[in-house]
Amino acid sequence: MVEQAKHQSNGTYQNLYDESIRNPKGFWARQADLIHWQKPFEKVLDDSKPPFADWYVGGETNLCYNAVDRHLDQLGDKPALIYVSTEVNQEKVYTFRQLHQEVQIAAAMLQKMGVKKGDRVLIYMPMIPEATFAMLACARIGAIHSVVFGGFASHSLASRIEDAKPKVIVSADAGSRAGKAVAYKPLLDEAIARSSYKPGHVLMVNRGLVPFDTVKGRDHDYAALRKELATAKVPVTWLEATDTSYILYTSGTTGKPKGVQRDVGGYAVALAASMKYIFMGEKGKTFFATSDIGWVVGHSYIIYGPLIAGMATVMYEGLPIRPDAGIWWKIVQDHKVSVLFSAPTAVRVLKKQDPAYLSKYDLSSLKALFLAGEPLDETTSDWISGAIGKPIVDNYWQTETGWPILAIQRGVEEMPGKLGSPGVPVFGFNVNVLNEDTAQPCRTNEKGVVAIEGPLPPGCMQTVWGDDERFVKTYWSSFKTRQVYSTFDWGIRDEDGYFFILGRTDDVINVAGHRLGTREIEESISSHPAVAEVAVVGVADQVKGQVAVAFAILKSADAVNETQAKTLEAEIMKVVDSQLGAVARPARVYFVNVLPKTRSGKLLRRSIQAVCEGRDPGDMTTIEDPTALAQIKNAMA
Ligand code: PRX
Repeated sequence: MVEQAKHQSNGTYQNLYDESIRNPKGFWARQADLIHWQKPFEKVLDDSKPPFADWYVGGETNLCYNAVDRHLDQLGDKPALIYVSTEVNQEKVYTFRQLHQEVQIAAAMLQKMGVKKGDRVLIYMPMIPEATFAMLACARIGAIHSVVFGGFASHSLASRIEDAKPKVIVSADAGSRAGKAVAYKPLLDEAIARSSYKPGHVLMVNRGLVPFDTVKGRDHDYAALRKELATAKVPVTWLEATDTSYILYTSGTTGKPKGVQRDVGGYAVALAASMKYIFMGEKGKTFFATSDIGWVVGHSYIIYGPLIAGMATVMYEGLPIRPDAGIWWKIVQDHKVSVLFSAPTAVRVLKKQDPAYLSKYDLSSLKALFLAGEPLDETTSDWISGAIGKPIVDNYWQTETGWPILAIQRGVEEMPGKLGSPGVPVFGFNVNVLNEDTAQPCRTNEKGVVAIEGPLPPGCMQTVWGDDERFVKTYWSSFKTRQVYSTFDWGIRDEDGYFFILGRTDDVINVAGHRLGTREIEESISSHPAVAEVAVVGVADQVKGQVAVAFAILKSADAVNETQAKTLEAEIMKVVDSQLGAVARPARVYFVNVLPKTRSGKLLRRSIQAVCEGRDPGDMTTIEDPTALAQIKNAMA
């Protein structure tokens, strides 16, 4: 496999990659120099208990120190955090020195509430500077943060509170979307009420957007504490490289989200290496990732990656087309952004706008646009590269890996890209395409399951929070004959070693780059009193990549007329909105009498999806009731 990419590389990428696979310990020992170690590690890698991999055993470091303190001498008065909000029309720039102080204040607040090393802090916040302070403050004192996307509602939040058991929750009165305030506090209060575990303290940033109720003794005001602790000095807590830095929940096959658990040292090194070899990060320049801190891209490339590399990072609260479709490019011009990172969906949204916005601003500082999170189609890729005249770098990875698995590593070598392909394996990732049944490598251009040989490189998940068994079972047990990490994606590798990703093998769908589990949505819809059974599938959508579509069977056998169906559909959407959040709301809910299932009762989601997309549903010999698919077809028509 390593052989196959050769003729596309002038040797530079190939040599680096080969070394990383042949001699991972040597390779990663060298990369470790990219960060500060308070105490050197004794062992680069302990993989004595596969599939677990402990990187940099015995070493001591700290993510916050590497992201902030380390740069004070050289970059103290240079921008570190650039907050731009087109929601509340605000712009604030924090230098590394100012960020250092704000983080210490936030750390002092957490300490005042009794937070110690290893305690969890849940962060449920919009894209505001205090969210960054809170994350870095946790990292500083060794608390484990768990950021929950602000678009999630009370059920999603409650299950995460229950699982992470945070001592403190940091939140805000509201987020804002398209200029409209979206209240957070009532959802948070409801989630806490729902959860059997109760956090001791809630730290509230009051943006003055939505009035909220305060629970005496539990809720604290961020601004008041900030005043009180304005000059706080909180030293860095040195952590074992293998200590846990954070938990980030993600969807999978079951309705119960998994807490992806990450370490400290391996993550710091992996991000530093990715900034250098993939993102072409340069100290003193500006990085702009348009994601949200609630997602893995936000963790790795809004907060830790750019700051570790000594770059200023843009935290943007707003939409890509408001006040107009020029906003990103204006930010690029105003803050001399050198690296822009976004998702294909957002680009497809821009494509529908006036192209004049793309030539209105000076983009000379920009080196490349990185896109990840979902397949990048050729038309979108072609369009945006033509419009901005910059390289477009597709990169493929997951919450679990924390940083790219496949990409053209332009910081190593400007290898040619191929339309529709995220490129070749990134150093450290021994990626393969395996036959689903035999676990043998597929032939060139043959479809199979994308898998990675263990040990995974630094930065990847350590385990599932509180559930080692689930980690092994979920990620390392797809094949009976051998233990490899399955990414749950279908893919092919071509004759030049380039990979193409063809979608998930499990029940995860990807809506506008947001990863959602169909099981979670089904469970939510099932809680509507009229619903007996439901199937949710992802259906291809021109802008969002996929949208969720639901097929429900009602408890009552009476037929529903069109008006009743409309009312029920709206009610069901409301249920999903209030439990999971609008991100998970299905685009349509159709009512049927029977769902396509196998004789053993397994929902044939993939066949439903195929019918919805006008494709052949495949082998239907195991279907229990052949009329079920006809009902799906009729409903869609
Ligand atoms: O199916 C793949 C898809 O997104 C999944 C991971 O989603 P998430 O955990 O949210 O992490 C996103 C990190 C960027 C993958 O299993 N995916 C991600 N990037 C790509 C992609 N599919 C195709 N092309 C990509 N570049």
